[in-house]
Amino acid sequence: MKRILLVCTGNICRSPLAEALLRREIERRGLAAAIEVDSAGTDADHLGEQSDSRMRRTAAAHGLRIDHRARRVTRNDLMRFDVIVGMDDYHLARVRRLADLRSPDGGRPEFRKLGEFDPEATGTVASDVPDPWYGGMDGFERVYAMIARMVPPLVDYLEQAVVIGAGIPGR
Ligand code: 4NP
Repeated sequence: MKRILLVCTGNICRSPLAEALLRREIERRGLAAAIEVDSAGTDADHLGEQSDSRMRRTAAAHGLRIDHRARRVTRNDLMRFDVIVGMDDYHLARVRRLADLRSPDGGRPEFRKLGEFDPEATGTVASDVPDPWYGGMDGFERVYAMIARMVPPLVDYLEQAVVIGAGIPGR
């Protein structure tokens, strides 16, 4: 079993969308029993709220339902999840800091940025998934397209980790 946590700022736009897209792809590949997905935010401004209605509307237009209540990343998440994926460098800095506070020398999850899995990436620097909160609907559509193209390579990666973790020879 691999556990992955998607992290953004408010946990009402980018990470709940990434969670829903990831879960759909995991189910499509028959991996639901092997990979667990959740999402959380670095900031507390929207705790307990449903995802942003603009994000939910954008997802619904693509046949995807987002059903998540915003929560904040906890220190316990750092023990529970194997992989933590941020949307930008701020999220990674925050979860790394939380990990340092929890256990300076202990085991820690693998930290990744979603842009590392962008099949359209050019150059070596992983791109950010930009915060759509202050912009128009086109920003939400852009975020959808970005995350949707990054999810299959991310699931490839997780699937490989599950297979290697299970010790299946020859793969
Ligand atoms: P998210 O978007 O991090 O993708 O959920 C945001 C939502 C709200 C705020 C920032 C980002 N905010 O500052 O309230």
